[in-house]
Amino acid sequence: MAGSKITVADLQAMKGRAKIPSLTAYDYPTARVLDAAGIPLLLVGDSLGMVVLGYPDTTHVTMAEMEHHVRAVARARPCALLAADLPFQSYATPEQAVASARRLVAAGAEAVKAEGGRSIQAQVRAIIGAGIPFLGHLGMLPQHVLEEGGYHVKGRADGERQALFADAEALVAAGAFAVVLELVAASVARELTQALPIPTIGIGAGPDCDGQILVTNDLLGTSPDYIPKHVKVRGDFAAETTALVARWKTSIGA
Ligand code: KIV
Repeated sequence: MAGSKITVADLQAMKGRAKIPSLTAYDYPTARVLDAAGIPLLLVGDSLGMVVLGYPDTTHVTMAEMEHHVRAVARARPCALLAADLPFQSYATPEQAVASARRLVAAGAEAVKAEGGRSIQAQVRAIIGAGIPFLGHLGMLPQHVLEEGGYHVKGRADGERQALFADAEALVAAGAFAVVLELVAASVARELTQALPIPTIGIGAGPDCDGQILVTNDLLGTSPDYIPKHVKVRGDFAAETTALVARWKTSIGA
């Protein structure tokens, strides 16, 4: 990234001009590598619950755990904009949302993300009112996986499509700088991308969003339990690591 710090305005200026590549980072060395690769938006996602902490889903991730990982990534001082997830049940009211967002900012985040649209519009307004940039998240909402009974594509039914538009418009009205679309039907993600003034960052939402985000461990083949269907795994670092360790064991005569 040649040392220039990425801002919210830089990301917004990419809409319609260049795809926005975004990846998760949960630790210092990964943040260094992704930053060296020129990724302009790093997310300390609560997906760390599954891929790093061994929880079954994101609902177990605590604020203290998020702060711990945000601090580690922030120590890399990335050129990328550093966003972090507000964890489950940390933004039930506008007051709680602002207090939680401030904790992540104190840990080193430069923006926060939370799941939902109209249902959290007051919280989004309060966070942005406190001077903290906000990244939306619509479509499949992992913090609701238990009530939704799994990870399902959203937007195929007309009611879901309309709800996605209403939620996206609520986020735009509240001042979100961009929105993640997770498991949104590709045609609806394309329509949203065309209609919204802010960048859409897709994950399992087809090729036409303004950017794409992935869980880095999925991309590298190191997510231990499950890799979603939409991910084209680009390597098998888990197998390579196992082989490397086996070679080392042999080399010391073990
Ligand atoms: O928690 C996470 O990593 C996320 C991304 C996959 C969008 O929310």
